[in-house]
Amino acid sequence: GKGAYPHYMLKEVDEQPAVMRRLLNEYVTADGQIKINADLLTALEAADRLYIVAAGTSYHAGLIGKTLFEKLAKKPVEVHVASEFGYHMPLLSAKPFFIFLTQSGETADSRQVLVQTNQMGYPSLTITNSQGSTLSREADHTLLLHAGPEIAVASTKAYTAQIAVELFLAVALGRHQEQAVALEFDVNHELTLVATGMEAVLSDKDQIEALVKHYLATTRNAFYIGRGTDYALSLEAALKLKEISYIQAEGFAAGELKHGTIALIEDGTPVLAFLMDQSTIDHTRGNLQEVTARGAQTFTIVSDAFAQPTDQIVLPQVNPLLTALVGVVPAQLIAYYASLQRGLDVDQPRNLAKSVTVE
Ligand code: F6R
Repeated sequence: GKGAYPHYMLKEVDEQPAVMRRLLNEYVTADGQIKINADLLTALEAADRLYIVAAGTSYHAGLIGKTLFEKLAKKPVEVHVASEFGYHMPLLSAKPFFIFLTQSGETADSRQVLVQTNQMGYPSLTITNSQGSTLSREADHTLLLHAGPEIAVASTKAYTAQIAVELFLAVALGRHQEQAVALEFDVNHELTLVATGMEAVLSDKDQIEALVKHYLATTRNAFYIGRGTDYALSLEAALKLKEISYIQAEGFAAGELKHGTIALIEDGTPVLAFLMDQSTIDHTRGNLQEVTARGAQTFTIVSDAFAQPTDQIVLPQVNPLLTALVGVVPAQLIAYYASLQRGLDVDQPRNLAKSVTVE
């Protein structure tokens, strides 16, 4: 049950630091070894390209995973929306390996791709929260999310758990291939910092509730912007806001706004920016000035090290590869309070089911 919580979503958002610590227990030894089956690592090493296939929030977790695999294991990755990939399969590399990200393990769009890749004889892994689920049974390998049941329709702790499991896999594969950056990556330390960072955000919900009241009370639309993994995170932040507050929110690459979409900015349009990717923060701040000049109300979510006095939400510093894990928490809370303040059904938004079992 949801215990003392008014909604499952809030409970599940709050559980995320504990899920990070539970995942460390499940996957990482005290001295930092990663407990992933050697057969799986050998199969991944043999692949010349990883294809991550998923839907919705899981697809967004895949976008973060791409960066992790490419930086830590130097393995090229493509990330695909399952419903597109199945019917318009791109030209594949010579030795592909398929990774299915699916909280439920039952998403029909993802399953129809797995059925095809099995027919083609390609190796596969399902990363899921549901042991014994269809996609788990039908793939060669399974890694579990250990997030506990996710009841709210809006996915929260599954997203952060998926990124953590992708991290373990990327580090293990990188080490298997003797990549220095993976050998040196201290998973226990970095993920513990993430958990405490999440706790810091979660301990100041009142601030986020007040900001939502100020910036999002009556708006019909909003933008999230960012670059690099901040862009990938913007897509997830916008999806959360859309699905439970019904605000028409779009996640956008910050530098791409000026190529057309900036026409939508009018007096008072909320533009929320993630500023955690060090190499592009100044550029994204420049994009914020462009929209401010056109009337936008801007709102920043920024890593401690880069914060300026006018920033709204300041996040504790974590490893640059893991910023989405902490950055998503304020976005989840923004969506939660926007839904709550509008008197909507947080856990059971209209038109949506928890698991989408039709194509
Ligand atoms: C969004 C959400 C959906 C799911 C998507 C995939 O909050 O819950 O976008 O992420 O339907 O579901 P799974 O991960 O079960 O395959």
